[in-house]
Amino acid sequence: MQAAARNHAGISSLEAVALAATHSAAVASYAWVGRDDQKGADAAATTAMRAALADAPGRGTVVIGEGEKDDAPMLFNGEVVGTGHGPDFDIAVDPLEGTSFCARDLPGSLATIAFAEAGTMWSPGPGFYMDKIVVPPPAKDVIDLDDPPERTLAKVAEALGKTVADLRVMIMDKPRHKQLVERVLRAGASVQTPAGGDVGGSLAVLLPTLDIDLLLGVGGTPEGVLTAAAVRALGGGMLGRLAPQRDEEAAAIRAAGLSLDRVYDRDELVSGEAFFVATGVNGGPLLGRPRRSNGVTVAESLLISRGQVRHITHTTFE
Ligand code: FBP
Repeated sequence: MQAAARNHAGISSLEAVALAATHSAAVASYAWVGRDDQKGADAAATTAMRAALADAPGRGTVVIGEGEKDDAPMLFNGEVVGTGHGPDFDIAVDPLEGTSFCARDLPGSLATIAFAEAGTMWSPGPGFYMDKIVVPPPAKDVIDLDDPPERTLAKVAEALGKTVADLRVMIMDKPRHKQLVERVLRAGASVQTPAGGDVGGSLAVLLPTLDIDLLLGVGGTPEGVLTAAAVRALGGGMLGRLAPQRDEEAAAIRAAGLSLDRVYDRDELVSGEAFFVATGVNGGPLLGRPRRSNGVTVAESLLISRGQVRHITHTTFE
């Protein structure tokens, strides 16, 4: 009991450093908005986030350092961050989620990070992609990744007190989702199909103001674990299963001893106390872009922790 209380305090004591990390990454990558250089933007975000994490009071292990799938700059899996003085913790990072949005100056890119108690974040090993479903709290117990989409829609609609026709579903616009989108539309629900960004899509499911009822489809594994931290903190529902998109990825997953059939629920993806932070990079429905004038920078962040969403405006003076 005492140990649990200590861990709890330990993790929440890291919220300020998490905010500093996404704030730094967002401001650094904002300089790359619209420059058609995804790697440059990612590198700027990663470097800034790494520098901020060096000040974390404790010893953090990067369980998931996004970037490997796209051969992009990254914080490495297993990399240790922090001062070493304080609690042990796990982190999952995507310093620039929605890299191509940033490079093309389209809304929706975010600097993101999730912290969890040490040893409680699932590692997808060499798995880059996973099939996901994310729902708000009232529907958390009705989802099953083996259900056909029509049944999922019917069950989620009932749990939310809606009809299927009322449901708004987020599915990324990818060739692999063509049939899924067609079936959801045929079932009578409406579909929002952004080009990417399923962390933002999942947040839209969790935050009532954004009016999305569920997220379906295959996206990145790092994004999945980051999302699970936010879903867990807010009591929503999430399931995920590795969904390799190439033969080599499938072979690497099998060689690592991971199952392609196993469905992980929210509390297996992140099993301990966790929180999630995002800062806006170039605007969108969730968070505005940083604004800079006369040596003052203002950035917008979200901190999702222990059943609460806090919107934070962070002003820094040079
Ligand atoms: P990046 O951070 O790598 O830009 O990821 C953006 C994203 O759209 C994620 O939100 C999503 O999970 C993943 O890419 C999907 O990958 P892919 O574009 O290869 O299908």
